[in-house]
Amino acid sequence: MRQPIIAGNWKMHIGRVEEAVSFARQIRQPLNEIEGVDRVLCPPFTVLTAVAEAIQHTQITLGAQTMHWEEFGAHTGEISPIMLSELCHYVILGHSERRATGSAAEADQSINLKVHAAFTHGLTPIICVGENLGQNEAGETHAFVGAQVRAAFDGLTTEQAMRCVVAYEQIWAIGTGKSATPTDANRTIGLTVRGAIAESFGEEVAQAVRVQYGGSVNVDNIATFMTMPEVDGALVGGASLKPDFVELVRRGVSPYVG
Ligand code: PGA
Repeated sequence: MRQPIIAGNWKMHIGRVEEAVSFARQIRQPLNEIEGVDRVLCPPFTVLTAVAEAIQHTQITLGAQTMHWEEFGAHTGEISPIMLSELCHYVILGHSERRATGSAAEADQSINLKVHAAFTHGLTPIICVGENLGQNEAGETHAFVGAQVRAAFDGLTTEQAMRCVVAYEQIWAIGTGKSATPTDANRTIGLTVRGAIAESFGEEVAQAVRVQYGGSVNVDNIATFMTMPEVDGALVGGASLKPDFVELVRRGVSPYVG
């Protein structure tokens, strides 16, 4: 049985310290009381410290939204794994909103460096993969997403591979109100995401990795995704910015079968 994991990706929202602290205080107790699910908040960098303080002594953990792979250096504006390691358990890597810049090949290669850097510094990566609408309609999902997974996992040890979290997000479903059908998501996660992991690391590892669905997940549709046997949670954007996120997590965990 894989422990489900639901993460709220605040993106570039709730960025004022006062606002972030007040929101975190509002949701922390009811969120903390929901058992059987890993609950993760991924606020902007500038409020990580404040949110970390607000959720102290709870089971809620923090994630960052990206990072550089190097520990330090002349990289103006970048955040290194060392800067995150004292605050965060998780780091989202390769979100499609970040992969959109630069060529895919470069992105895959740097995402792999970041995955390795995450493990070096005690962070668990949430690796985002997913096809765009054109690729989906052209029947390229399996090849494209499989290649993203293989590239991200390249060179990991078996133990590291098992600890990775993957977020399968169809790009046109992000922030648009359109979600994949749960059965589609289930099929791609099972055949393509776990399939690619199994090729390199074997079936046992593929079955141990937790795979989230992401893309317009909300309080009304979360349960339908969580009833799918391959879906182990959700990466939630817009719907994680409201107190309703607590209800989303509650509804998500109750039908979980993965
Ligand atoms: P959304 O974002 O829930 O607002 O669609 C999901 C994501 O980008 O991770």
